[in-house]
Amino acid sequence: MRVLVVGGGGREHALCWAISRSSQCDAVLCAPGNAGIARIAECVAVGAEDIPVIVALAKERAVDLVVVGPEGPLVGGLVDRLAEAGIRAFGPSAAAAELEGSKGFMKDLAARQGIATAAYGRFTDAGRARAFVAEHGGRVAVKADGLAAGKGVILCQTPAEADAAIESILVDKAFGAAGSEIVIEEFLGGEEASFFALVDGKRAIPMASAQDHKAVGDGDTGPNTGGMGAYSPAPVVTDKMAGIVMDRIVEPTIAGLAAAGRPYRGVLFAGLMIDAAGPKLLEFNVRFGDPECQSLMVRLASDPLEALSACAAGDLGSTKLAWRDEVSLTVVMAAKGYPGTYEKGSEIRGLSFVERMEGVTLFHAGTRIGHRRLLSDGGRVLNITALGATVAEAQARAYAAVDCIDWPQGFCRRDIGWRAIGR
Ligand code: AMP
Ligand code: GLY
Repeated sequence: MRVLVVGGGGREHALCWAISRSSQCDAVLCAPGNAGIARIAECVAVGAEDIPVIVALAKERAVDLVVVGPEGPLVGGLVDRLAEAGIRAFGPSAAAAELEGSKGFMKDLAARQGIATAAYGRFTDAGRARAFVAEHGGRVAVKADGLAAGKGVILCQTPAEADAAIESILVDKAFGAAGSEIVIEEFLGGEEASFFALVDGKRAIPMASAQDHKAVGDGDTGPNTGGMGAYSPAPVVTDKMAGIVMDRIVEPTIAGLAAAGRPYRGVLFAGLMIDAAGPKLLEFNVRFGDPECQSLMVRLASDPLEALSACAAGDLGSTKLAWRDEVSLTVVMAAKGYPGTYEKGSEIRGLSFVERMEGVTLFHAGTRIGHRRLLSDGGRVLNITALGATVAEAQARAYAAVDCIDWPQGFCRRDIGWRAIGR
């Protein structure tokens, strides 16, 4: 098979890495890719959001399967345009991707299907939104309805904070058109975890769980980022809990989407809040998480391409996924200043040593080559993924590798995995 991976971050490097190891893989292309991906795939300088050019590329290069990494092109209809051109793709249609593209759509579906989730309201009017906040005592999550690069959620402790959040999203348009409608939710407590399932339109098979670290600083302090590290599996998602998540959250969602004429195909990523009462759904994403995907791919023992292509073909009936027993842990190295403003173009050294380290896999997230040197080219720049018998062992290996990297302009959290290690 000739495979085209769409995107250029650490998630896409992990997907290219996994796919290129498959016995069924003849060639991997990536649009646009990065300097690390360029070593294992042919990178083509096309932006992930440039839907017509990606469709033309897939046709011209006789691609058998397109694997879409980020949510933007999914919500924008890339998979639909590829289908019209007769090209198979891994990822949902635009209609099914509404699950991530509109938080209001997701909440209404969850309510219709009886899925446990936070109480909520949808608002376009600031006055009505404030009345809802007053009813809930001020501790709420205020969310832009549309895609906001993971930044559209404001957690509020008081009515004054909620007021300011409503004002900023609905009135000042802090997230542009994505915030012309907002969702306000009651505040949920518990332990957060991510759960991934493959869905072929009708059937779902569980993949694995992971735990992300969204805050930029050690001890979960500072502003939220796209994710500063992850490990898999998440101890809070026991086998029993995974069964409950499949029965009470994943299955009813797939049934609800199919009944609405929006059958879901691809990976379904459920963000969960788990407490003594069980799992509650925080959000759905219609793609792999980044950096969760990196931790998942190194643990996947069965053929990744076989699974992704069976899923895209609507036929997961005979797919069985096997996972390594080890835990995997990913540390993200980011440019100083991220998630605020940061500089690009600083030189990174010491990677060839890291690439030879036992149990360690290096993924590039935002890099490019300039004057034969490796340069940073984004906020999140490198991902160091390590396997271990325990989270502590995987963590020790990952940080031993991080410490070999010579990149003074970069930083990372030093406590990825703390929750699992503290158990
Ligand atoms: P989301 O993008 O909807 O997952 O929200 C981003 C983050 O905000 C989540 O990972 C949670 O940590 C937090 N969050 C979202 N909704 C709630 C809620 N209803 N209660 C508590 N925390 C929330
Ligand atoms: N790491 C969280 C996400 O990909 O949405």
